[in-house]
Amino acid sequence: MQKVRKAVIPAAGLGTRVLPATKSMPKEMLPIVDKPAIQYIVEEAVRSGITDILIITNRGKGLIEDHFDRVPELEARLSGSPEKEAMLKEVIDISHMANIYFVRQKETRGLGHAVNCARSFINGEPFAVLYGDDVIIGEDPACGQLIRAYEEFGKGVLGVKEVSAEAITKYSSLKVDPIRDNLYTCTDMIEKPTPDKILSLFSILGRCVLPPEIFDILDQTPPGAGGEIQLTDAMCTLARQQGMVAVDFTGNRYDMGNKLGIMQASVEVALNHPQIGADFRAYLKEIAKTL
Ligand code: UTP
Repeated sequence: MQKVRKAVIPAAGLGTRVLPATKSMPKEMLPIVDKPAIQYIVEEAVRSGITDILIITNRGKGLIEDHFDRVPELEARLSGSPEKEAMLKEVIDISHMANIYFVRQKETRGLGHAVNCARSFINGEPFAVLYGDDVIIGEDPACGQLIRAYEEFGKGVLGVKEVSAEAITKYSSLKVDPIRDNLYTCTDMIEKPTPDKILSLFSILGRCVLPPEIFDILDQTPPGAGGEIQLTDAMCTLARQQGMVAVDFTGNRYDMGNKLGIMQASVEVALNHPQIGADFRAYLKEIAKTL
């Protein structure tokens, strides 16, 4: 079994649900307390054993590239001062976390089209996909949980959670059968189902591990929901052809593509933050009394 060492982070969406914040700022760069969302995602990939990451960007996302680069002027300013030593190390470490590559999706034609831009980078290997606006925080990195399932079953793996009947029409819905614990087989799926087409309340949320055959399938996948080339449609073909495995992963998932998700991430990360956690908790308790 080939090891999963490459990952793709699609980050070329327009972020229309978070306007006007995302007018000139990529939504992947929105901070959760003191780190941009995409850094949490890269850290999760690295903790999962990924060594090479391709970030799919588009026009106006240059800030993402800058974030993973060195900044000599800033480093010079931080060096030499003992109290800034830890910050200097943190700033430099960001640029050494993994081999990070970038490619542009030249037209916003959907998540499937974005992933298809990774074909030559992936070069015939299995790979992980971490959606650029889904931050998952937990002890055991979600991407690593999926990679373990790939190594056990040798099939494409989907990160899933149960969502409400109202929410599922905005996501995907999967046909699943239990294997054991939090593992299921998946043999069918549908993107943005109408209420009569719901297969189950399990939905793909933010992570998958795919075999390289997905690229030939993507080439043949016509535009689906919203006129975009949907990764779910291609994975549906894969699931029907060879079956996939669904992992109901542990960890808290935050949807950085919508305003409420951004606030939930900020509040929960701040509560556990080593520097501001205690003060923020006290502040929240005071505020809560007035609600
Ligand atoms: P979304 O549909 O949530 O992203 O795609 P979006 O288009 O930015 O969102 P809204 O609806 O306009 O607010 C899920 C993931 O796929 C990426 C996005 O960056 C996000 O990480 N994506 C989507 C691409 O890379 N390219 C696309 O053409 C579409």
